[in-house]
Amino acid sequence: MCGIVGYIGNKQAYPILIKGLQRLEYRGYDSAGIALINDNDNLNLYKSKGKVADLIHFAEKNDVSGTIGIAHTRWATHGEPNQVNAHPHYSQSEELVIIHNGIIENYAVLKKGLQQHGYTFQSETDTEVLIQLIEFVKKSNNISLSEAVQLALNEVVGAYAIAIIEKGNPNCIVAARKGSPLVIGIGENEYFLASDATPIIEHTNKVIYIDDEDIVTIERNKNLIIKTIANVEKTPEIKELEMTISQLEKNGYPHFMLKEIFEQPQTLANSMKGRVNVDANNITLAGFIDNKERFLNAKRIIITACGTSWHSANIGMYVIEEFARIPVEVEYSSEFRYRNPVIYKDDIVIAISQSGETADTLAAVELAKKEGAFIFGICNVIGSSIPRNSDSGCYTHVGPEIGVASTKAFTAQVTVLTMLALMIGKEKGTISDERYLNIIGELHQIPDKISSILKKNNDISEFAKTFTYAQNFIYLGRGYNFPVALEGALKLKEISYIHAEGYPAAEMKHGPIALISQEMPVVVIATHSSTYDKVISNIQEIKARKGKIISIITEGDDTVRNLSHFAIEVPHTEECLAPLLAVIPLQLLAYHIAVEKGCNVDQPRNLAKSVTVE
Ligand code: G6P
Repeated sequence: MCGIVGYIGNKQAYPILIKGLQRLEYRGYDSAGIALINDNDNLNLYKSKGKVADLIHFAEKNDVSGTIGIAHTRWATHGEPNQVNAHPHYSQSEELVIIHNGIIENYAVLKKGLQQHGYTFQSETDTEVLIQLIEFVKKSNNISLSEAVQLALNEVVGAYAIAIIEKGNPNCIVAARKGSPLVIGIGENEYFLASDATPIIEHTNKVIYIDDEDIVTIERNKNLIIKTIANVEKTPEIKELEMTISQLEKNGYPHFMLKEIFEQPQTLANSMKGRVNVDANNITLAGFIDNKERFLNAKRIIITACGTSWHSANIGMYVIEEFARIPVEVEYSSEFRYRNPVIYKDDIVIAISQSGETADTLAAVELAKKEGAFIFGICNVIGSSIPRNSDSGCYTHVGPEIGVASTKAFTAQVTVLTMLALMIGKEKGTISDERYLNIIGELHQIPDKISSILKKNNDISEFAKTFTYAQNFIYLGRGYNFPVALEGALKLKEISYIHAEGYPAAEMKHGPIALISQEMPVVVIATHSSTYDKVISNIQEIKARKGKIISIITEGDDTVRNLSHFAIEVPHTEECLAPLLAVIPLQLLAYHIAVEKGCNVDQPRNLAKSVTVE
């Protein structure tokens, strides 16, 4: 969703804020804006439709001086992405400006009330309503900005991370959060604020994660003051960031997505580091060990997630049911949270999220927690909201994922779920020692096997060129490879805008087969598995209807190769680990088709990396 960034200190704010916006641009990129207070106490505000580059082009012709400022990159919710709706937004008097990530749900009622007091509105946004409300409260009660923010937020229903500056007060930023992330960076006589730590790490590794319903007053050369919305003062808890700047750069790759695909041998090794021990033949997940009894007594596990994380959740269902013999249900977070689900106190709810901030998944966690279930978070971003709201969990440790289409997060989530399933199964005795040891040995080899698949990148790139004509794609898989088919289809539609459907291969004959013609590329994941022969029959059905078969096969499989228009080999592995290999060529295929079509791979239209609104 939107990215917010702020600075107060002794340096010029503009370059820091612009660099910060560029780091946050993956969160939203339909418009951008910046507000600065210069040394003459002028409040200058610039905004433009489009990307941060468009803002730079526009702003740099003007006065961009000042040592305090706030900036925003937008993913539109209320009102189309144009200059008027871009943030920051002025209050009526133009004395206050705000940036906001989130949604004010009761904005219509608040707006009506403000209109009755003579307030008029320039934009269609909920954000403008909030800053007008803050100004109204401030002026009617003759109180400070932070007091006004506190009173106003008590009237607000919805989610927000906000930052506000005030003309005539060049020494203070007031910020607050509820439901949308906000991090404060602490430098030498300077403070940074941002939606996540990526704009902060190049300046300082000391951060404070702001909690929901907290308001922070950041004053130049003074200590931070954090108060709750109910006016209770809190002691800030300073944390140290582990991130490095090189993780935020493309390091010679043309796109973050390609870099992240190629990082997977290393990121999976990181996910397994200290957890999969081949010499000792065991797996250790601290989040499991500390809560062993909960897992062993669980009658049911519910996995909740969105997007790509929902696909890894489905693989989690297969692997946990197979090895731990606990029934698993997989739920889209957005459905789960609103359908009054039955949740028992001895249920375990696993929430999977790369960002740890997805609003629907966070709400699902809160609901399940209220019902007394045990929450286990599988997330990537350290210190994000879902891990902080979970009882226990496991980080995936893949480093920042910046390409909007998720790649390395997916393989790491599947790896963590597999490790968890194996640990539960071992403790429960529902997996044989031999099987357990074989899978540990295979897991250990997965990074090298992925490296060998990545060597086929040039071939896949060449072959992808033949498919830029396609308007539709079908992806088929069975068993563990069915969620991989869903993920392959999602990758393609996200970044190339080609319509793609993932289906269980055997379901094809109940509908999608009507779509097959010689125009239709059909990607079939046909690696060796317990359903291999059945998948061959499904391939024959497509071939009989002249569909173009692109297959993902196990090395040396001439049977499927001979049935295919194009076949990509992956090394042999255990059936439950096949998704970790089969998804790699699908990521590359989607990437190269999108590049060939001239699409913006890292920032596809209409999407955002971290969806902090429902
Ligand atoms: C957005 C992203 C997807 C991601 C989904 C869930 O839609 O574009 O790539 O899979 O959110 O995100 P999460 O951070 O919860 O895994």
